[in-house]
This record gives sequence, structure tokens and C-alpha cells, in this order.
Amino acid sequence: MSLITIHPDVKAKVDSMKTIMSSDVKQHFFNPKNLVRDEKEIEELKPNGIGIIGSAGCGDNMSMWLKIEDEKIKQCKWQTFGCGSAVASSSILSVMLTDNQVKVDDAMKITTEDILNKLGAVNAKKVHCSILCIKALREAINDYYKKTKQYDKIVVEGARIIDNNIKLTDKQIEEGVLNGARDLNSLQVLLNIEISEESKNKV
Ligand code: FES
Repeated sequence: MSLITIHPDVKAKVDSMKTIMSSDVKQHFFNPKNLVRDEKEIEELKPNGIGIIGSAGCGDNMSMWLKIEDEKIKQCKWQTFGCGSAVASSSILSVMLTDNQVKVDDAMKITTEDILNKLGAVNAKKVHCSILCIKALREAINDYYKKTKQYDKIVVEGARIIDNNIKLTDKQIEEGVLNGARDLNSLQVLLNIEISEESKNKV
């Protein structure tokens, strides 16, 4: 009988790693590219697109920081508290984006299937781990579109649009209130938006 007890977190990491088949993917797991190891890296990057999301499936989260210039993704940094599949997926995605300096509009079209194809055979229970990095990417691109006032390009999933001109959603309003907005003015300041007159009654 073994006297060594493996911590559940370590076991989960190892188990998740077993679901990753190709050696290329193992490289991304053991030596992830563009992973933020020090918060100073984010300051130096001066990102203009930031996506932070959580997984409803497992409770893990993912942060992604993009540096976009001339509408192309020049740098992509990320951090996750997710499993090995999430680490490998994010690393692969970041390399896909930056090696080819993908146009930001094209990056919005990258799907979970694109990542799964690169990963190879993945346990069905681990698909949501790859979805995590795609969601963070889309969130970061939407953030960039918002900051550059390209509201018509914002893609919204699973939320109701309140103001069509600036693609303001009920989820953003909810987050604004949770972050301290107590009236329309403070909500606009917090979200850096200008709500149209006709939409103010709906908010
Ligand atoms: Fe949570 Fe993979 S189990 S990201």
C-alpha cells in the first residue's frame, strides 16, 4: 500500500494531460507559450483588448490580453487556473494568433473546432476547456472593438441587446451594477459608453 497521497489538484492535472495525445500538444502543456508568469508582463504589454471569463462547467477561469496594432494581433498573453487541456489549448491559440499576426476580424471567426483539430484526440469531458480560451479571445476582441468604438463589429453570445447602436447588453448592465454603478450616468462612465436617448427607457 502506498503511503504517498497525491493531491487531488495534481491528480486532476495528470489525468487531464493523459487525454492529450500528440507530442506537439504535450510540448504546449509542458512549455506553454505566451503564458503570463509575472503581472509586470501585462503592464509592459499595454494590452488594448482584455478578456476575462469563467467556465460554468468547471469553475475555472481564463484571462487573455491582446496587443492589437493596424487591426492585427501582434501579441497574445494569457493566464488560466484551468487544467492541462486549457493550458495546451490557450498556448496553441496564442501561437496561431501571433505567428501569423491574424487580423482581428478573422480572429473572431476562430472556433473551438479549430483548436480541437490542433489538439487531436480529446476526451469529450475536456471540450469545455478549449471553449474557455475561445471565449476569452472573443471577449478580448469585443473589448478592443468597444475601446476603438467599432460597436457594429461586437459579437454577443447569450445576452439580450439593449442598445443596438453600441451593442449594449443586459449582461453588461448587470455587471456594471455589480461593479458599483448606481445610476445611468455612473453606468455610462463605468462602461465607457454613451447610451442613446431611445434606449434609456429600456435600461
Ligand atoms: Fe476546468 Fe479544464 S477542467 S478548464
